[in-house]
Amino acid sequence: MSHPKDAPAVHPVPPAFAAQANLTRADYQRLYAESLRDPDGFWRQVATRLDWMRPPTQGKDTSFDREDFRIRWFADGELNASVECLDRHLAARGDRTALLFEPDDPAQPAQSVTYRDLHARVCRLGNALRNLGVARGDRVTIYLPMIPDAVVAMLACARIGAIHSVVFGGFSPNAIADRVADCGSKLVITADEGVRGGRRIPLKANVDAALRLPRSNSVETVLVVRHTGAAVDMQMPRDRWFDAVVEGQPDQCRPERMNAEDPLFILYTSGSTGKPKGVLHTTGGYLVYASYTHACVFDLKDDDVYWCTADVGWITGHSYIVYGPLANGATTLVFEGVPNHPDHSRFWQVVDKHRVTLFYTAPTAIRALMREGDGPVRATSRASLRVLGTVGEPINPEAWRWYHAVVGDGRCPVVDTWWQTETGGILITPLPGATDLKPGSATQPFFGVRPALVDADGRRLEGEAEGNLVLLDSWPGQMRTVHGDHQRFFDTYFSAYPGMYFTGDGARRDANGDYWITGRVDDVINVSGHRIGTAEVESALVSHPKVAEAAVVGFPHDIKGQGLYAYVTLVAGEPGSDALRDELVRHVRSEIGPIAAPDHLQWAPALPKTRSGKIMRRILRKIAENQPDQLGDTSTLADPSVVDALVKARRDAG
Ligand code: WTA
Repeated sequence: MSHPKDAPAVHPVPPAFAAQANLTRADYQRLYAESLRDPDGFWRQVATRLDWMRPPTQGKDTSFDREDFRIRWFADGELNASVECLDRHLAARGDRTALLFEPDDPAQPAQSVTYRDLHARVCRLGNALRNLGVARGDRVTIYLPMIPDAVVAMLACARIGAIHSVVFGGFSPNAIADRVADCGSKLVITADEGVRGGRRIPLKANVDAALRLPRSNSVETVLVVRHTGAAVDMQMPRDRWFDAVVEGQPDQCRPERMNAEDPLFILYTSGSTGKPKGVLHTTGGYLVYASYTHACVFDLKDDDVYWCTADVGWITGHSYIVYGPLANGATTLVFEGVPNHPDHSRFWQVVDKHRVTLFYTAPTAIRALMREGDGPVRATSRASLRVLGTVGEPINPEAWRWYHAVVGDGRCPVVDTWWQTETGGILITPLPGATDLKPGSATQPFFGVRPALVDADGRRLEGEAEGNLVLLDSWPGQMRTVHGDHQRFFDTYFSAYPGMYFTGDGARRDANGDYWITGRVDDVINVSGHRIGTAEVESALVSHPKVAEAAVVGFPHDIKGQGLYAYVTLVAGEPGSDALRDELVRHVRSEIGPIAAPDHLQWAPALPKTRSGKIMRRILRKIAENQPDQLGDTSTLADPSVVDALVKARRDAG
């Protein structure tokens, strides 16, 4: 493994890259200044990159203040997202590849879907959905594997003005039911099974179990894609085969004229309290922002082959597998598999096979592959690669350097892109032809983005500083509301620091003004780049009859970034056993999904609380990290002996 001893702290833009880049340092400086001086004019100009049905005459109309709180962009514009992603490319590039599909099993053939084919498939499904009674404004839940039909399903909803809610294939029936119930979905699109790393995932059976729960009673129809061909229970007349309903449908479908501020999708994400929130994005601003950031951050060129390894169940998949790349007429690769199957060269074999030029993945994948050494990477060419990106969690400098030196052979700029489900697109990032790189730093704000750091009292910190990361002004891709709960939207993001959007992240700004994201400062834990709310896992644990109380904290994990550490107090008289521990972990898997399963579960005779009954998570974090000498001030504890017992049990567990 390569560990450069005198690794440079700064990687200047390679001159050869700068010479061909879409945006140079001077461009960045000029456009950034312009975007702050006149955000309305700047974004109205950027918005002309779309082919609006009715071009907007209005631009920015936003305020984060309680009195006249509003977020509206291009509010009188009209467009249809599927037309932006498909129809407008047909004349000049209809035969160009829109989607490359690489299946889980490398022995299965890859597929290539042209813009013309994708347009026809989307139109057929759009017509079928209309025939099934799905109308503009209705919600559709999509629970599919990473296959082209997942993209078809999203765009078909957009075509007819239906609002999609994609649910990640790793969520359990219970979590599907929560998401279906919250938005009142009329129709669910799923597949017989998914396959990942050779393992089958019973998607249709999960949907069946979800729909048996009474709260899912809004669903009238389930469309089932035949993917693996496994036998599934079809419940008539509710369940319909996808291929049967699209067969014979015309390959033209009238697109709905949507207002820029009409909803495009809802995507559920975890917060620090309560149930996951339905983050709602609208059509015009989101699409302008996703497409423009995609083009700028990846230095997109006409002949690029772009691959983002995320799942469409997450925001990264929405913005940077589907909407951004397709709105830009790019070729986007859809990968069904995992990085370590059949072996640890899989990513790089796919890069070579499809001549991938722009590659975007998560730090957790990089760390897992780095652990396997350089061999599986060196066994491949990767000569096609031009830009490497990361997203989802802070990347440690060691992993950044390995990605840059080994995967990119030191040639390719690494863009560490910071953003959130709520932000719709990338907010803090290098631009590969414009920004000097620092391993571990997301560097500079994108155009129009005004980050700032504040202390706990909301005082602005200037210059070199560390604090809570806030945004002082709106950008077009910003979420517009929490579905069904606008008050929760305001309270969650705009009440902590009046007049500012609070990200929930901490950050440091260095002497050059570069940002280093330090991670969440709230009760959200970032496990392998997936957001998990501690409150959700706690309520899953407490829903088990033998559990009296539970507290969940994050702890540093070599591969996952953070892991989940659960403290569980059992009901009186219930002895803790290994069998019960396994049962509780299984219980969380079935309540939420495998991504929320605790890595450690410790029995806690009692939890450390303040005299007012608040659980002191700071102390639980230190115990989980096995740093009992750093517990800090414990004088406010109601019963300090509780801590001694937990520390002792933690030490005994090793
Ligand atoms: C974290 C994913 C450091 C951060 C797009 C944020 C990052 C949360 C980075 C959002 C990065 C994302 N460096 N941390 N480059 N990118 N994060 O909603 O804590 O799934 O608040 O969106 O991931 O996660 P989400």
